[in-house]
Amino acid sequence: MTGRRLLLLDTATETVAVGLALVESTGRVEVLSDVSRVAPRKANTVLLSWVLDALNEAGCALADIDGVAVGRGPGSFTGVRIGVATAKGIAHGLGVALWGTSTLDAIAWRIAIEGREGVLGVVGDAMRGELYPALFELADGTARRLSPDRVASPQEVAHEWAANGGVTILAGNGIAKHAAVFAQAVPSALVAPEESWHPDATGLAAAWIADRRARGWGSGDPATVLPVYTRLSDAEEAERERAGLPRVPPPSNGVAGGAGPPAFTLRELRRADVDAVVAIETVSFSDPWTEGMFADDLAAPGRAWIVAECGGEVVGYAGVAMIGDEAHLLNLAVREDHRREGIGRALFARASEEAARMGAERLTLECRKSNTAAIALYESMGMVRAGVRPGYYARTGEDAVIYWGRAGVSGIEARAGSASLTGDARYLLAIETSCDETAAAVVTTAGELVASVVASQVDFHARFGGVVPELASRKHTEAIVGVVDEALRRAGEAAGAPGPLPFCALDAIAVTYGPGLVGALVVGLAYAKGLSLATGVPLVGVNHLEGHIFANVLADPEVAPPLVALVVSGGHTSLVHVPDWGVYRTLGETLDDAAGEAFDKVAKVLGLGYPGGPVLSRMAADGDPAAIDFPRAMLRSGDYAFSLSGLKTAVINHIRHEREAGREIDVPDLAASFQAAIVEVQVAKAVRAVEETGVKTFCLGGGVAANPALREALKQAMEPLGVHVSVPPIHLCTDNAAMIAAAALPRLARGELLGIDAEAVPGLRLDSE
Ligand code: KG4
Ligand code: ZN
Repeated sequence: MTGRRLLLLDTATETVAVGLALVESTGRVEVLSDVSRVAPRKANTVLLSWVLDALNEAGCALADIDGVAVGRGPGSFTGVRIGVATAKGIAHGLGVALWGTSTLDAIAWRIAIEGREGVLGVVGDAMRGELYPALFELADGTARRLSPDRVASPQEVAHEWAANGGVTILAGNGIAKHAAVFAQAVPSALVAPEESWHPDATGLAAAWIADRRARGWGSGDPATVLPVYTRLSDAEEAERERAGLPRVPPPSNGVAGGAGPPAFTLRELRRADVDAVVAIETVSFSDPWTEGMFADDLAAPGRAWIVAECGGEVVGYAGVAMIGDEAHLLNLAVREDHRREGIGRALFARASEEAARMGAERLTLECRKSNTAAIALYESMGMVRAGVRPGYYARTGEDAVIYWGRAGVSGIEARAGSASLTGDARYLLAIETSCDETAAAVVTTAGELVASVVASQVDFHARFGGVVPELASRKHTEAIVGVVDEALRRAGEAAGAPGPLPFCALDAIAVTYGPGLVGALVVGLAYAKGLSLATGVPLVGVNHLEGHIFANVLADPEVAPPLVALVVSGGHTSLVHVPDWGVYRTLGETLDDAAGEAFDKVAKVLGLGYPGGPVLSRMAADGDPAAIDFPRAMLRSGDYAFSLSGLKTAVINHIRHEREAGREIDVPDLAASFQAAIVEVQVAKAVRAVEETGVKTFCLGGGVAANPALREALKQAMEPLGVHVSVPPIHLCTDNAAMIAAAALPRLARGELLGIDAEAVPGLRLDSE
């Protein structure tokens, strides 16, 4: 056996570590190439070309990669997320397993392999004057971890290590800023040379194989690999501090109150598990095995039975039997409430590995024709449909589909889309992570929307009264693979494919690269770039605002330039002249707050929660828009600029004034009057823009386009002028990836592609391209 090739990545420190290793079946690891170099804040631009360099140097092609290991930190949050999101994209696209490995472990192993012995203290730079400390015992070229991940002050760490007395070597990029503290506290410790403060391919490969020995292969599911955060976002830490609560380490997804992917473990099935297994079996199958059948089979030779355990409960199981020199998958089921968590995949991978261990080269199974979830799983694991056994299931008379595949398909392989599509439609997958929605959508290249998935994080931000950027980035990293998978699954269903839409059916992958929150944009972009590289599908970059305009095209394909668009969202208020697709002239923007922001801030003052637009517009429907005379800023300014902070202040002052006077605030009247002030200015400027440019089409876009009063007023003002007013349906107004897909199609047609070195542009302007 030639072994498996593992791609190694780490971007948690200033070093971008990339290499390729050969993992032999004996567990011996040989590093084939290592192109790791210092590249501060360059991870997103250099990572993929360095992956190609590492492959080149090793004499390998992308298709030779059998698995990916990525450093999970702890380190720079954004840095780690670039590596993790890129690795997710590569593994997802290649259909191979992804594992996370500790960056600090990789550093320790690197130093151990260099031949040092003793107690090593590694300190990663945690910024803001803090460190990520970890202790290791180095002996005979190995590193053993002595302390868990955490964040602490340099004084605390130095003091602790001085007291414990045994630290003989120090390393890590946290030393640079705090050398004096350690020199004083542990003067006898040797500081390792600076080159070894960062992970490299050797360290990553060694840490990875040590993890596999200690923890097994796991599911290898790219969806489940997350950064190590060690602390909550600042917003959450501040919230705890205000509440007088102690600092706590975050849960695995880094977000308090938001459960991460549930952890499960695999182990051998025992007699005591049979009751739980029978309970799942009975509700899962029409011809279930009985307790007696399980008991007999457990005692039979040439069997391997595995259970998945979650929170101390058995939630799934699988069994394989050797028949001659072939393995048969007997049963595989996951409890209803734990489906779609990667458990079925992990069980299958383990069963297949057990089959290989018992000497099988091939594995077969039968599956109900109607069990589409199981069929999708087996096909994604490389099993091939070999025929149908008519009426195989006695009770229902249903046909069984027979599958054959190679035994030993551990989590390291498979997932390649093998669905066969009928028809010759081509597709585009779009990804959007610019703010607080993780979204993916699929359209045909003819512009038909076939799937749109939006995972909203609004509940996580609501209690802070607005979007917390760090939280948004964490949630995107957690959700991205699942959201894309779900979009591909729905697209496959819509296309009549037996499984998810395969990547080979895509003509392009589109991604929002600006404007937006930089840390949030980076996650979608890094993932999309990795996916594009791995699948060979070209990448198209989309401007988020262009997406909001294109929501109109999705709803009404007749919409075409020349047109004027008003994009009004939580981040933008822009009037744009579009003489032709791809040509944008911003006529005017807000000088201060965006329209949605004004709604959100007023709602916050009134204690109406976040986001404010929907609540305020509902309340406004019952109020009198003429009740309070709020200022119409810039109404007669003679240009297309907007200013909303004055209005916001006027509303807040009004509220304060009324409260001080002991009068009760009529919220519907206030909401209606505030809304009227916004709408009047927007409409007046929009009408002027339409008249001056002479266009006959007007488009509205962005979250505030969901506002009924604004929609109605625009129609009333423009239709008498013979101007067609297009407003997208509500679900296409707020952030989604369908609009990004629609905006990407003309860019694809013009051949405008993003390179693998593309960066997120948080301040991206429509006119700049
Ligand atoms: O486009 P979007 O989903 O995200 C950004 O790109 O900002 O817009 C969200 C904004 C929020 O400020 C929200 O309050 C506002 O759109 N919004 C509304 C309404 N529905 C959402 N504003 C006014 N009236 C509405 N009905
Ligand atoms: Zn938006």
